[in-house]
Amino acid sequence: MHQSKIVSGLPKSRLYAELAQELGSLIAGEPDLTANLANAAALLFHSLPDLNWAGFYLLKNGELVVGPFQGRPACVRISIGKGVCGTAAERRATLLVTDVNQFPGHIACDAASNSEIVVPMIAGDELLGVLDLDSPSLRRFDIEDQAGLEEFARVLLSEWRTTDRGR
Ligand code: SME
Repeated sequence: MHQSKIVSGLPKSRLYAELAQELGSLIAGEPDLTANLANAAALLFHSLPDLNWAGFYLLKNGELVVGPFQGRPACVRISIGKGVCGTAAERRATLLVTDVNQFPGHIACDAASNSEIVVPMIAGDELLGVLDLDSPSLRRFDIEDQAGLEEFARVLLSEWRTTDRGR
């Protein structure tokens, strides 16, 4: 059984350092992509405060398809260039949206969402998918969250290369 050592109230930089370490131990030596993404989504959702969705969209046949996540059921397919996820995937850059209601084309899977961050998962020059986090609060995510989640994605990608990538 996985026993999380993450306590609440840590400064963000410490929290993300702990998260990256826990993710590393959770996925070490495990080649199954679905298992690793599912544990990564659960780790984020249960360790970070004030989220209503955390999970992955995976690039399959040119579009994003929902993968392992925690939260309410979500839109299944998102075209590249559409919504926050598809735009981050197209730009291959993290998108930090402080108010989703101000983002043209935002896809509202859960009406409770007010802010969102999407981190593309890129190995070499290959886009594999995106990591997506939603919050019911406005301005929930800042550049410290961005740095922490980009590092989280790097840890995940280090194991991803050794998996079957689910395709
Ligand atoms: N809001 C996203 C869609 C995915 S859900 O948030 C889980 C978007 O605009 O791409």
